[in-house]
Amino acid sequence: MKNEITVLSPIQLGPYSLPNRMMLAPLTRNRAGKGNVPQPLNVEYYTQRASAGLIVSEASQISPQGVGYPSTPGIHSQEQVEGWRQITDAVHSKGGRIFLQLWHVGRISHPSLQPDEYLPVAPSAIKPAGQAVTYQGLKDFVTPRELDLAEITDIIEDYRTGAENALSAGFDGVEIHGANGYLLDQFLRDGSNHRSDIYGGSVENRMRLMLEVTDAVCSVWGASRVAIRLSPLQPFNDMFDSNPEVTFSYAVEQLNRFGLSYLHVTEMGKEAPNAAGPAFDLVNLKRIWKGIYITNSGYDLVRANASISRNETDMVAFGVLFIANPDLPMRFSQGANLNKPDPSTFYGGDAKGYTDYPSLNTN
Ligand SMILES: Cc1cc2nc3c(=O)[nH]c(=O)nc-3n(C[C@H](O)[C@H](O)[C@H](O)COP(=O)(O)O)c2cc1C
Repeated sequence: MKNEITVLSPIQLGPYSLPNRMMLAPLTRNRAGKGNVPQPLNVEYYTQRASAGLIVSEASQISPQGVGYPSTPGIHSQEQVEGWRQITDAVHSKGGRIFLQLWHVGRISHPSLQPDEYLPVAPSAIKPAGQAVTYQGLKDFVTPRELDLAEITDIIEDYRTGAENALSAGFDGVEIHGANGYLLDQFLRDGSNHRSDIYGGSVENRMRLMLEVTDAVCSVWGASRVAIRLSPLQPFNDMFDSNPEVTFSYAVEQLNRFGLSYLHVTEMGKEAPNAAGPAFDLVNLKRIWKGIYITNSGYDLVRANASISRNETDMVAFGVLFIANPDLPMRFSQGANLNKPDPSTFYGGDAKGYTDYPSLNTN
């Protein structure tokens, strides 16, 4: 079937003509330099992966308060903007396109990572089960401090500033991190949001912050260069919702109003039935969404093409396969063997397991 659309077919994404439907999924690699500033090693890593239809950067904190792990890059200081500029210039010179993932971790932090050792902040003072990754090793999460209304307004402004900084740094767009148990997801799901004001209770109220942030970011970029990521069934970071289908159907319906670049839904947690709340068929979200839809989690070439041909997704984001195979589109197009990812080098370290995976033409 010659004309069948595959993951290697081009696609139009807002103003951008992408050569293929493969996204480099956002991947935290904990290799930023001093001051959480992107450094030359990061330039090489992203440049190696410029053949992805779209690169989404590792999650990048919008403020010093938004940080949750060691050596993750930020997008709130001038030095960080200049560091990112090296990356966007290098990716563009290879013909690639790159969005920045805007991040605030909320309660998934630790006082030792926070300015003046303050408590991490959250919709509600609910301590997540588990441990924070700190510069001193793993430490139990603490009970976060509940945000007041004025602070929520400030955080929306931090998102706006982060979006402006991403524009100055030469990105092609931004993806709002609404997934994986970080701040916006903490507001959305009822396991982590017990507020009784306009940001809690009903799904309309729990979705309010995500919509306000999206509105602020669109005011900077225009909606066609703004995207969002959701993780409806992801239990990671102690997340739970009593009715994920209702919550996320509502979220997607509301996000339709903007005309965003794409909706990115990770299926992570789908295999852990009910851990994050009662499971449902995520394909329903694609039916509700009126734009480009991107799925993720455990996809390879065969699954990606099957999903596209069933019209269950428009593009696919690849994480660990892209970590180990910088030239993944070429490998897919040639049916070449894939390098094996080394999980021991995923988070932190140096060039090993980061920029030293061979490309086909260096094998
Ligand atoms: C090392 C690593 C870092 C990750 N960092 C992020 C991140 O910064 N932001 C995010 O939204 N997801 C992050 N994820 C999740 C991935 O984007 C992706 O959803 C996950 O790896 C599943 O896709 P895959 O099976 O193709 O790898 C990370 C995953 C891994 C393995």
